[in-house]
Amino acid sequence: MLMRRILVTSALPYANGQIHIGHLVEYIQTDIWVRFQRMRGHEIHYVGADDTHGTPIMLRAEKEGLTPQELIARVWQEHKRDFDDFLVSFDNYYSTDSAENRELSQAIYLKLRDAGLIEKRAIEQAYDPVKEMFLPDRFIKGECPKCGAKDQYGDSCEKCGATYSPTDLKNPFSVVSGATPIKKVSDHYFFKLSDPRCENFLREWTQVKTPLQAEARNKMKEWVGEPGDSKLGDWDISRDAPYFGFEIPDAPGKYFYVWLDAPIGYYASFKNLCDKKGLDFDEWTRADSETEMYHFIGKDILYFHTLFWPATLEFSGYRTPSNVFAHGFLTVDGEKMSKSRGTFITAHSVITEGLNPEWFRYYFAAKLNASMEDIDLNLQDFTARVNSDLVGKYINIASRSAGFLVKRFNGLVDETALQDELLVHLRHANTEIANYYEDREFAKALRRIMELADQVNAYVDANKPWEIAKQEGQDAQLQKVCTITLEAFRILSLYLKPVIPRVATGVEEFLNIAPMQWADVDQTLSTTRAIRAYSHLMQRVDPKLIDALLAANQA
Ligand code: 2FM
Ligand code: ZN
Repeated sequence: MLMRRILVTSALPYANGQIHIGHLVEYIQTDIWVRFQRMRGHEIHYVGADDTHGTPIMLRAEKEGLTPQELIARVWQEHKRDFDDFLVSFDNYYSTDSAENRELSQAIYLKLRDAGLIEKRAIEQAYDPVKEMFLPDRFIKGECPKCGAKDQYGDSCEKCGATYSPTDLKNPFSVVSGATPIKKVSDHYFFKLSDPRCENFLREWTQVKTPLQAEARNKMKEWVGEPGDSKLGDWDISRDAPYFGFEIPDAPGKYFYVWLDAPIGYYASFKNLCDKKGLDFDEWTRADSETEMYHFIGKDILYFHTLFWPATLEFSGYRTPSNVFAHGFLTVDGEKMSKSRGTFITAHSVITEGLNPEWFRYYFAAKLNASMEDIDLNLQDFTARVNSDLVGKYINIASRSAGFLVKRFNGLVDETALQDELLVHLRHANTEIANYYEDREFAKALRRIMELADQVNAYVDANKPWEIAKQEGQDAQLQKVCTITLEAFRILSLYLKPVIPRVATGVEEFLNIAPMQWADVDQTLSTTRAIRAYSHLMQRVDPKLIDALLAANQA
């Protein structure tokens, strides 16, 4: 098989909040894909980082009596802990507030400037005269211009649903100081996306060159339009001091807008990994690189990844993404996650309340496909599916056969049974399942694997090893049935390994085999290396745990 070289990212979480199950959908989706590619033997690097810059993080640190650096160092530890707990196997987890990112961001900006794609323009914006800072929209509140509801944000009214712009608010005030915002003019730096070079590039990149998801391609088509009819506006990439971020090299007191340096943070994290591992960063990132690069993101940040980011890369001389994979939002029991209902579930609470993160990995995988549709965590269905499918159908296969092999046959399998027709059938499904993983059709992969598990259980039910075990002179038959069952369990475990890697490690120890690679599907259990005694690989979900989880997250 051709060996691929792949760089993969998940979106960088902001460094001012906790990781919650909404985030986890994406990290788990990415991680399953990455682990699958690793099992295939490809060279793959999965990088992430905290997204550390911007006004909210600066203000949050101030509120907590910390420097921004202190805040982001603390949050980094928390995020890293949560990713480790959920078995998200980053090869490097970094920070956008790094020397590599500063250097790359500044160099990229200078390239864009030298290409004639940066323009300085004076614009008027809301300003807090007490705090002496410009105010992003989210930091201005006031009365709804339609219904008069108090304390509404500058974009929409939570009471009547009206949408408007911050200048429409009545009696506006700064969330930071309470002062009435004034208008103030200052110079901003713009990336000229409306330049014909950018327009043409983005039209080609989004509509022809990149196999974007259909929904994404159509959305972008509205923006890039037909030649002469593009809706692309220039992109404001600067912010005035005070701002936590990187200063623009030729513009003292001006900082890169967080969304300029955030995706460059993907490269910075990868650069840091290259330096640690002796990889050639240039070979992976230069314009004619033959490697692949994929970004997994939520559908809300599609524009940044399919317009701004590819244009940034293209006109600073780097390779552009091979593709961008967007997923939908997570709902819980059909509704938006909510603190009052306790469904704004943090990653850490799952651990402290004693739930198994692999239950979530399995459940999300069972719901995920390659589209941008929202996915629902239905808590009753979660319990039922984990208990009946994962534990009931899959895990229990091991316990149905291992004991007899260990007690009666010194843990050794029967060579003549290893090519039984059931096993050949199970191995034969590997291409179909691999294709589902490759295409991010995880729900289909799991459905197929569970069908196979059903067939194995039907085999056990038909052959009843517990009855054969009681009969005289049936040793050979007992060893055969148990061998087929356990080898089937090995194959199913291999198929499930990207989703439940910790269970897979337990299986490898119990079966006394090397870490499973995809190609091992065509191997068999060894006839000379004894399996070890079985100890339970996964507990069932006790519904009481779900109640406790919701209670722990109730605000
Ligand atoms: O939307 C977000 O949460 C951003 N922090 C994602 C950044 S992804 C990348 F571009 F850096
Ligand atoms: Zn209103």
